[in-house]
Amino acid sequence: MNVGERIGLDITSMAHGGEAVGRHEGRVVFVRDALPGESVIAEVTAMPAHGRFMRARAVDIVTASPDRVRPPCRYVDRCGGCDWQHIALPAQRRIKATVVAEQLTRIGGEPADRWSHLEVEALEGDVDGLRWRTRMRYAVDPEGRPGLRAHHTHDVVAVTECLIASPAIGGADVLDRAWPGARELLGVQPDGSAVLLPDPVAGRARVTQHAAGREWTFDATAFWQVHPGAADALVRAVEELLRPREGDHLLDLYAGVGLFAGAYADALGPGGRADAVEADETAIKGARRSLHDLPTVHIHHERVDRWLRRGPLRHCDLVVLDPPRTGAGKEVIERISALRPRAIAYVACDPAALARDVATARRLGWDMTALRAFDLFPMTHHVECVALLEARDSLTS
Ligand SMILES: C[S@@+](CC[C@H](N)C(=O)[O-])C[C@H]1O[C@@H](n2cnc3c(N)ncnc32)[C@H](O)[C@@H]1O
Repeated sequence: MNVGERIGLDITSMAHGGEAVGRHEGRVVFVRDALPGESVIAEVTAMPAHGRFMRARAVDIVTASPDRVRPPCRYVDRCGGCDWQHIALPAQRRIKATVVAEQLTRIGGEPADRWSHLEVEALEGDVDGLRWRTRMRYAVDPEGRPGLRAHHTHDVVAVTECLIASPAIGGADVLDRAWPGARELLGVQPDGSAVLLPDPVAGRARVTQHAAGREWTFDATAFWQVHPGAADALVRAVEELLRPREGDHLLDLYAGVGLFAGAYADALGPGGRADAVEADETAIKGARRSLHDLPTVHIHHERVDRWLRRGPLRHCDLVVLDPPRTGAGKEVIERISALRPRAIAYVACDPAALARDVATARRLGWDMTALRAFDLFPMTHHVECVALLEARDSLTS
């Protein structure tokens, strides 16, 4: 078998990374642009040296799934940005739910049917899964033409529109002109008009976002959720699961600009306390600027693992854990567990990382007692989960 050869495949499922799965002569094939239930002719695109699997791309759909739609974007064949434009939006959400449940069973050790009822919830106002992205990083090719990276390469696909970009970013004069000398363009649509930064560096542009009834002001390069409804949806979901009370001590770990600490400070009251821990200096500056009116919120510029290892606390009541894609990891979960909080809300952008950390937490006596999932990234395989972890002994006592 060589790259470029064509093979017939029956597609059986969708893998965690967004590719469909088939088998050829016993070997797993990850297939782009295909759907479970389909028969396709696929062209082999990669044969990793270890030989355990192949990658391919569907070039001819022999039997199409009823969930297949015509992709709305004309660049979909080359652009690496959206991998699920060929799937109807309700089916995207159904498949995401299946992938989350599978990861939790296979990696997280959850019982097989435990999360089979999971629904991936659309955000309010999301009609067709387009025009939601309020932060766009465009690449620029050697001729200065802006575009997006091709799938699995650094090549730039020049584009004159992106259908998932928010209307203000899409309407800004970005893609229909050349940017000689620039390597990257950052378009951000905060509350207000779009901000555009060629070759973005921290400190060039300040933006303001509203969420949870507060205002956050921070540098455009700091982390903020990309879907305009995401911050409010996550704050609400975490609050419903954690139910913060007056006097509680909450940890907001991987805090960004302090979204959760700021959102719940009122509920914790003057006798409560929130510690927000974040490693990125730009985000920390945004947190300090945005939360200076909240004396019970304490902001720590440090890596979460190091801050916990230093052991500044013996106990806390609640934890919000919102790590990057790699997850929190064993040591961080162990140290949080040792603080014996009443509950941990885990906000996860990668279900596999969530599942790994849930497995660690279970060995330490924690059960995942609730789970919600949100479609923060329509047209892509990405999905956001919010899980509640509670100590098993507190559930039985
Ligand atoms: C998914 S974002 C969440 C931010 C915030 N909770 C929010 O909702 O806006 C993850 C954050 O973790 C930060 N981060 C990544 N690794 C870290 C580490 N080891 N320690 C502390 N912060 C880290 C990133 O800079 C980023 O701000």
